[in-house]
Amino acid sequence: MSNATTESRRAEGVADCPPNLSRAPAIITRPVRVRAVDPRQPSSRGIGLAVTRHLLRTTTLPILATTRNPDPSAAKSSLIDSLGRDGIDDAARLHVLPLDVTDEASIQAASERAAELFPPKTHHLHLGLAMPGILHPEKSPKQVDYAGALETLKVNTLGPLMLLKWFGEFLPRKGTDMSEVAATTASSASAHHATFLLMSARVGSTTDNRLGGWYSYRASKAGVISLARTFDNHLRVRSGDKAMAMAYHPGTVKTEFSREFWGNVKEEKLFSAEFAAEKLVGVVGGRDVQSDRGRCWDWKGEEVKP
Ligand SMILES: NC(=O)c1ccc[n+]([C@@H]2O[C@H](COP(=O)([O-])OP(=O)(O)OC[C@H]3O[C@@H](n4cnc5c(N)ncnc54)[C@H](OP(=O)(O)O)[C@@H]3O)[C@@H](O)[C@H]2O)c1
Repeated sequence: MSNATTESRRAEGVADCPPNLSRAPAIITRPVRVRAVDPRQPSSRGIGLAVTRHLLRTTTLPILATTRNPDPSAAKSSLIDSLGRDGIDDAARLHVLPLDVTDEASIQAASERAAELFPPKTHHLHLGLAMPGILHPEKSPKQVDYAGALETLKVNTLGPLMLLKWFGEFLPRKGTDMSEVAATTASSASAHHATFLLMSARVGSTTDNRLGGWYSYRASKAGVISLARTFDNHLRVRSGDKAMAMAYHPGTVKTEFSREFWGNVKEEKLFSAEFAAEKLVGVVGGRDVQSDRGRCWDWKGEEVKP
Protein backbone atom coordinates (compact mmCIF):
# COMPACT_ATOMS: atom_id res chain seq x y z
CA MET A 1 0.00 0.00 0.00
CA SER A 2 1.39 3.41 -0.89
CA ASN A 3 2.09 6.03 1.78
CA ALA A 4 -0.55 8.33 0.32
CA THR A 5 -3.17 5.62 0.68
CA THR A 6 -2.00 4.87 4.20
CA GLU A 7 -2.31 8.55 5.13
CA SER A 8 -5.77 8.92 3.67
CA ARG A 9 -6.90 5.82 5.54
CA ARG A 10 -5.51 7.19 8.80
CA ALA A 11 -7.40 10.40 8.12
CA GLU A 12 -10.67 8.52 7.91
CA GLY A 13 -9.93 6.72 11.16
CA VAL A 14 -9.03 3.40 9.64
CA ALA A 15 -5.83 1.69 10.64
CA ASP A 16 -4.16 -0.89 8.48
CA CYS A 17 -4.77 -4.49 9.44
CA PRO A 18 -1.56 -5.99 10.84
CA PRO A 19 -0.31 -9.07 9.01
CA ASN A 20 -1.01 -11.45 11.89
CA LEU A 21 -4.69 -10.57 11.80
CA SER A 22 -5.03 -10.67 8.06
CA ARG A 23 -6.98 -13.91 7.98
CA ALA A 24 -9.02 -13.37 11.12
CA PRO A 25 -12.71 -12.60 10.88
CA ALA A 26 -14.08 -9.10 11.14
CA ILE A 27 -16.61 -8.17 13.75
CA ILE A 28 -19.05 -5.42 12.97
CA THR A 29 -20.64 -3.48 15.73
CA ARG A 30 -22.44 -0.24 15.82
CA PRO A 31 -22.62 2.50 16.79
CA VAL A 32 -19.76 4.48 18.28
CA ARG A 33 -20.21 8.07 19.31
CA VAL A 34 -17.40 10.26 20.47
CA ARG A 35 -19.23 12.22 23.15
CA ALA A 36 -20.32 8.96 24.73
CA VAL A 37 -16.92 7.71 25.60
CA ASP A 38 -16.57 9.25 29.04
CA PRO A 39 -16.58 6.16 31.28
CA ARG A 40 -17.54 8.24 34.32
CA GLN A 41 -20.99 8.90 32.91
CA PRO A 42 -23.47 6.32 34.19
CA SER A 43 -25.45 6.66 30.96
CA SER A 44 -22.69 6.40 28.37
CA ARG A 45 -23.85 6.40 24.74
CA GLY A 46 -25.31 3.09 24.36
CA ILE A 47 -24.99 -0.62 24.33
CA GLY A 48 -23.21 -0.57 20.94
CA LEU A 49 -20.36 1.43 22.39
CA ALA A 50 -20.13 -0.86 25.44
CA VAL A 51 -20.07 -3.97 23.22
CA THR A 52 -17.26 -2.48 21.13
CA ARG A 53 -15.24 -1.79 24.27
CA HIS A 54 -16.01 -5.27 25.63
CA LEU A 55 -14.89 -6.97 22.41
CA LEU A 56 -11.69 -4.94 22.32
CA ARG A 57 -10.91 -5.99 25.88
CA THR A 58 -11.82 -9.67 25.58
CA THR A 59 -10.88 -10.72 22.02
CA THR A 60 -7.98 -10.27 19.63
CA LEU A 61 -10.17 -10.10 16.52
CA PRO A 62 -10.45 -7.10 14.19
CA ILE A 63 -13.49 -4.95 14.87
CA LEU A 64 -15.31 -2.72 12.43
CA ALA A 65 -17.54 -0.18 14.15
CA THR A 66 -19.62 2.59 12.65
CA THR A 67 -20.64 6.05 13.75
CA ARG A 68 -22.81 8.97 12.67
CA ASN A 69 -20.11 11.24 14.01
CA PRO A 70 -18.77 13.32 11.08
CA ASP A 71 -15.26 12.70 12.42
CA PRO A 72 -14.80 8.90 12.73
CA SER A 73 -11.10 9.24 13.57
CA ALA A 74 -11.97 11.39 16.61
CA ALA A 75 -14.57 8.80 17.65
CA LYS A 76 -11.95 6.09 17.32
CA SER A 77 -9.27 7.96 19.32
CA SER A 78 -11.73 8.81 22.04
CA LEU A 79 -12.87 5.21 22.33
CA ILE A 80 -9.34 3.88 22.49
CA ASP A 81 -8.30 6.50 25.07
CA SER A 82 -11.27 5.50 27.22
CA LEU A 83 -9.94 1.94 27.46
CA GLY A 84 -6.80 3.24 29.19
CA ARG A 85 -4.74 0.31 27.96
CA ASP A 86 -1.22 1.64 27.64
CA GLY A 87 1.02 -0.50 25.48
CA ILE A 88 -1.77 -2.46 23.79
CA ASP A 89 -2.28 -1.59 20.14
CA ASP A 90 -6.09 -1.48 19.93
CA ALA A 91 -5.85 1.11 17.14
CA ALA A 92 -4.50 -1.49 14.73
CA ARG A 93 -7.60 -3.68 14.87
CA LEU A 94 -10.39 -1.16 15.44
CA HIS A 95 -11.79 0.36 12.25
CA VAL A 96 -14.40 3.09 12.55
CA LEU A 97 -16.43 4.04 9.48
CA PRO A 98 -19.16 6.65 8.99
CA LEU A 99 -22.67 5.22 8.58
CA ASP A 100 -26.25 6.38 9.05
CA VAL A 101 -28.82 3.59 8.76
CA THR A 102 -31.34 5.95 7.14
CA ASP A 103 -28.87 6.67 4.32
CA GLU A 104 -28.37 3.55 2.19
CA ALA A 105 -25.48 5.11 0.27
CA SER A 106 -23.54 5.42 3.53
CA ILE A 107 -24.19 1.73 4.31
CA GLN A 108 -23.06 0.69 0.83
CA ALA A 109 -19.90 2.82 1.16
CA ALA A 110 -19.09 1.25 4.54
CA SER A 111 -19.66 -2.22 3.08
CA GLU A 112 -17.32 -1.49 0.15
CA ARG A 113 -14.65 -0.23 2.53
CA ALA A 114 -15.13 -3.36 4.66
CA ALA A 115 -14.52 -5.50 1.57
CA GLU A 116 -11.21 -3.66 1.00
CA LEU A 117 -10.16 -4.13 4.61
CA PHE A 118 -11.35 -7.73 4.84
CA PRO A 119 -11.44 -9.30 1.36
CA PRO A 120 -14.22 -11.92 1.39
CA LYS A 121 -11.92 -14.51 -0.23
CA THR A 122 -9.79 -14.63 2.90
CA HIS A 123 -12.10 -13.25 5.60
CA HIS A 124 -15.58 -13.68 6.95
CA LEU A 125 -17.81 -11.79 9.35
CA HIS A 126 -18.06 -13.74 12.59
CA LEU A 127 -20.33 -11.49 14.64
CA GLY A 128 -22.53 -8.81 13.08
CA LEU A 129 -24.55 -6.56 15.38
CA ALA A 130 -27.31 -4.26 14.13
CA MET A 131 -27.92 -2.02 17.14
CA PRO A 132 -29.66 1.26 16.26
CA GLY A 133 -32.88 2.20 17.96
CA ILE A 134 -35.03 5.22 18.77
CA LEU A 135 -38.25 5.47 20.79
CA HIS A 136 -41.28 7.77 20.66
CA PRO A 137 -43.28 6.39 23.62
CA GLU A 138 -46.86 7.06 22.45
CA LYS A 139 -49.47 6.05 25.05
CA SER A 140 -52.52 6.34 22.76
CA PRO A 141 -53.17 6.48 19.01
CA LYS A 142 -53.79 10.24 19.30
CA GLN A 143 -50.18 10.73 20.39
CA VAL A 144 -48.76 9.07 17.29
CA ASP A 145 -46.98 11.66 15.18
CA TYR A 146 -46.62 10.55 11.55
CA ALA A 147 -43.08 11.86 11.09
CA GLY A 148 -41.89 10.40 14.41
CA ALA A 149 -43.45 6.99 13.69
CA LEU A 150 -41.90 6.95 10.22
CA GLU A 151 -38.48 7.81 11.63
CA THR A 152 -38.86 4.99 14.17
CA LEU A 153 -39.59 2.46 11.44
CA LYS A 154 -36.74 3.80 9.29
CA VAL A 155 -34.12 3.57 12.04
CA ASN A 156 -35.34 0.51 13.97
CA THR A 157 -36.60 -1.77 11.20
CA LEU A 158 -35.36 -0.64 7.80
CA GLY A 159 -31.98 0.20 9.36
CA PRO A 160 -31.20 -3.42 10.36
CA LEU A 161 -32.66 -4.65 7.05
CA MET A 162 -30.26 -2.45 5.09
CA LEU A 163 -27.37 -3.55 7.33
CA LEU A 164 -28.04 -7.19 6.58
CA LYS A 165 -28.47 -6.35 2.90
CA TRP A 166 -24.99 -4.83 2.70
CA PHE A 167 -23.12 -6.83 5.37
CA GLY A 168 -24.88 -10.22 5.23
CA GLU A 169 -22.70 -11.17 2.25
CA PHE A 170 -19.65 -11.16 4.55
CA LEU A 171 -21.01 -14.09 6.57
CA PRO A 172 -19.40 -17.48 5.91
CA ARG A 173 -20.77 -19.86 3.30
CA LYS A 174 -21.19 -23.60 3.64
CA GLY A 175 -17.64 -24.24 2.42
CA THR A 176 -15.90 -21.58 4.55
CA ASP A 177 -13.08 -22.90 6.74
CA MET A 178 -13.86 -21.83 10.32
CA SER A 179 -10.95 -23.59 12.02
CA GLU A 180 -8.95 -20.40 12.56
CA VAL A 181 -11.77 -18.75 14.53
CA ALA A 182 -12.51 -21.93 16.43
CA ALA A 183 -8.89 -21.96 17.57
CA THR A 184 -9.13 -18.42 19.01
CA THR A 185 -12.55 -18.79 20.66
CA ALA A 186 -12.47 -22.44 21.63
CA SER A 187 -14.62 -22.11 24.75
CA SER A 188 -17.63 -20.64 22.97
CA ALA A 189 -20.43 -22.67 21.39
CA SER A 190 -20.50 -20.07 18.60
CA ALA A 191 -16.86 -20.66 17.65
CA HIS A 192 -17.91 -22.85 14.72
CA HIS A 193 -20.64 -20.59 13.36
CA ALA A 194 -21.05 -16.87 12.70
CA THR A 195 -23.95 -14.84 14.09
CA PHE A 196 -25.82 -11.80 12.79
CA LEU A 197 -27.70 -10.26 15.72
CA LEU A 198 -30.52 -7.75 15.25
CA MET A 199 -31.36 -5.71 18.35
CA SER A 200 -35.05 -6.02 19.17
CA ALA A 201 -36.84 -5.61 22.53
CA ARG A 202 -39.29 -7.58 24.64
CA VAL A 203 -42.04 -5.13 23.65
CA GLY A 204 -41.56 -6.42 20.10
CA SER A 205 -43.20 -9.67 21.23
CA THR A 206 -46.86 -9.83 20.16
CA THR A 207 -47.42 -12.79 22.53
CA ASP A 208 -46.16 -10.71 25.46
CA ASN A 209 -48.14 -7.56 24.63
CA ARG A 210 -50.55 -7.16 27.54
CA LEU A 211 -50.09 -3.45 28.27
CA GLY A 212 -50.32 -1.82 24.85
CA GLY A 213 -48.82 1.62 24.13
CA TRP A 214 -45.58 2.48 22.34
CA TYR A 215 -47.26 1.89 18.99
CA SER A 216 -44.49 2.70 16.59
CA TYR A 217 -41.65 1.25 18.70
CA ARG A 218 -43.51 -2.04 19.34
CA ALA A 219 -44.30 -2.42 15.65
CA SER A 220 -40.71 -1.60 14.67
CA LYS A 221 -39.26 -4.19 17.05
CA ALA A 222 -41.85 -6.85 16.14
CA GLY A 223 -40.61 -6.24 12.61
CA VAL A 224 -37.03 -6.88 13.75
CA ILE A 225 -37.99 -10.29 15.19
CA SER A 226 -39.59 -11.11 11.84
CA LEU A 227 -36.50 -9.92 9.93
CA ALA A 228 -34.23 -12.15 12.02
CA ARG A 229 -36.33 -15.21 11.16
CA THR A 230 -36.56 -14.32 7.48
CA PHE A 231 -32.84 -13.67 7.18
CA ASP A 232 -32.08 -16.86 9.08
CA ASN A 233 -34.16 -18.84 6.58
CA HIS A 234 -31.98 -17.33 3.86
CA LEU A 235 -28.82 -18.28 5.78
CA ARG A 236 -29.97 -21.89 6.24
CA VAL A 237 -29.79 -22.27 2.47
CA ARG A 238 -26.77 -20.05 1.82
CA SER A 239 -24.55 -20.89 4.79
CA GLY A 240 -25.94 -24.07 6.36
CA ASP A 241 -24.64 -24.42 9.92
CA LYS A 242 -21.85 -21.89 9.34
CA ALA A 243 -24.04 -18.82 10.04
CA MET A 244 -27.26 -17.95 11.86
CA ALA A 245 -29.36 -14.86 12.55
CA MET A 246 -31.10 -14.01 15.81
CA ALA A 247 -32.96 -11.14 17.46
CA TYR A 248 -32.11 -9.98 20.98
CA HIS A 249 -33.60 -8.23 24.02
CA PRO A 250 -30.93 -6.69 26.31
CA GLY A 251 -33.10 -6.02 29.40
CA THR A 252 -33.62 -2.46 30.62
CA VAL A 253 -30.30 -0.72 30.25
CA LYS A 254 -29.25 2.63 31.71
CA THR A 255 -28.61 4.57 28.51
CA GLU A 256 -29.99 7.80 27.03
CA PHE A 257 -32.57 5.65 25.31
CA SER A 258 -34.25 4.69 28.61
CA ARG A 259 -33.48 7.85 30.64
CA GLU A 260 -37.14 8.86 30.93
CA PHE A 261 -37.92 5.53 32.64
CA TRP A 262 -34.96 5.07 34.98
CA GLY A 263 -37.12 6.07 37.96
CA ASN A 264 -39.74 3.38 37.19
CA VAL A 265 -37.29 0.48 37.25
CA LYS A 266 -35.90 -1.24 40.35
CA GLU A 267 -32.17 -0.57 40.68
CA GLU A 268 -31.29 -4.27 40.30
CA LYS A 269 -33.27 -4.46 37.04
CA LEU A 270 -31.64 -1.40 35.48
CA PHE A 271 -28.44 -2.69 33.94
CA SER A 272 -25.28 -0.78 33.14
CA ALA A 273 -24.28 -0.75 29.48
CA GLU A 274 -21.17 -2.73 30.42
CA PHE A 275 -23.24 -5.48 32.06
CA ALA A 276 -25.57 -5.54 29.05
CA ALA A 277 -22.59 -5.90 26.69
CA GLU A 278 -21.16 -8.80 28.67
CA LYS A 279 -24.53 -10.56 28.74
CA LEU A 280 -25.08 -10.03 25.01
CA VAL A 281 -21.74 -11.55 24.08
CA GLY A 282 -22.36 -14.43 26.50
CA VAL A 283 -25.81 -15.20 25.08
CA VAL A 284 -24.49 -15.14 21.50
CA GLY A 285 -21.64 -17.43 22.55
CA GLY A 286 -24.06 -19.90 24.12
CA ARG A 287 -26.40 -20.33 21.12
CA ASP A 288 -26.67 -23.67 19.41
CA VAL A 289 -26.84 -23.12 15.68
CA GLN A 290 -29.23 -26.02 15.09
CA SER A 291 -31.82 -25.36 17.79
CA ASP A 292 -31.53 -21.63 18.54
CA ARG A 293 -31.30 -19.96 15.14
CA GLY A 294 -33.88 -17.51 13.80
CA ARG A 295 -35.39 -16.78 17.23
CA CYS A 296 -35.33 -13.88 19.69
CA TRP A 297 -33.31 -14.36 22.90
CA ASP A 298 -33.11 -12.22 26.02
CA TRP A 299 -30.15 -11.35 28.25
CA LYS A 300 -30.86 -14.44 30.41
CA GLY A 301 -30.67 -16.70 27.37
CA GLU A 302 -34.46 -17.28 27.45
CA GLU A 303 -36.58 -17.04 24.35
CA VAL A 304 -38.78 -14.00 23.67
CA LYS A 305 -41.73 -15.38 21.72
CA PRO A 306 -42.74 -13.51 18.56
N1 LIG B 1 -31.74 0.74 26.74
C1 LIG B 1 -32.72 -0.13 26.89
O1 LIG B 1 -33.31 -0.26 27.98
C2 LIG B 1 -33.15 -0.98 25.73
C3 LIG B 1 -34.13 -1.97 25.96
C4 LIG B 1 -34.52 -2.77 24.91
C5 LIG B 1 -33.96 -2.61 23.66
N2 LIG B 1 -33.02 -1.63 23.46
C6 LIG B 1 -32.46 -1.49 22.11
O2 LIG B 1 -31.06 -1.52 22.17
C7 LIG B 1 -30.51 -0.75 21.09
C8 LIG B 1 -29.45 0.18 21.63
O3 LIG B 1 -30.09 1.05 22.53
P1 LIG B 1 -29.27 1.90 23.59
O4 LIG B 1 -29.88 1.67 24.91
O5 LIG B 1 -27.82 1.68 23.41
O6 LIG B 1 -29.72 3.36 23.12
P2 LIG B 1 -28.92 4.73 22.88
O7 LIG B 1 -27.87 4.90 23.91
O8 LIG B 1 -29.96 5.77 22.73
O9 LIG B 1 -28.24 4.43 21.50
C9 LIG B 1 -29.00 4.32 20.35
C10 LIG B 1 -28.06 4.30 19.24
O10 LIG B 1 -28.81 4.25 18.00
C11 LIG B 1 -28.11 5.06 17.10
N3 LIG B 1 -28.88 5.61 16.02
C12 LIG B 1 -30.00 6.36 16.09
N4 LIG B 1 -30.36 6.75 14.86
C13 LIG B 1 -29.44 6.22 14.00
C14 LIG B 1 -29.25 6.26 12.61
N5 LIG B 1 -30.08 6.93 11.80
N6 LIG B 1 -28.19 5.63 12.08
C15 LIG B 1 -27.32 4.98 12.86
N7 LIG B 1 -27.46 4.90 14.20
C16 LIG B 1 -28.49 5.51 14.76
C17 LIG B 1 -27.56 6.20 17.92
O11 LIG B 1 -26.44 6.71 17.23
P3 LIG B 1 -25.89 8.16 17.54
O12 LIG B 1 -24.97 7.93 18.70
O13 LIG B 1 -25.19 8.56 16.30
O14 LIG B 1 -27.06 9.04 17.89
C18 LIG B 1 -27.21 5.55 19.24
O15 LIG B 1 -25.85 5.22 19.28
C19 LIG B 1 -31.69 -0.06 20.42
O16 LIG B 1 -32.05 -0.81 19.27
C20 LIG B 1 -32.82 -0.16 21.46
O17 LIG B 1 -34.08 -0.19 20.85
C21 LIG B 1 -32.58 -0.83 24.47
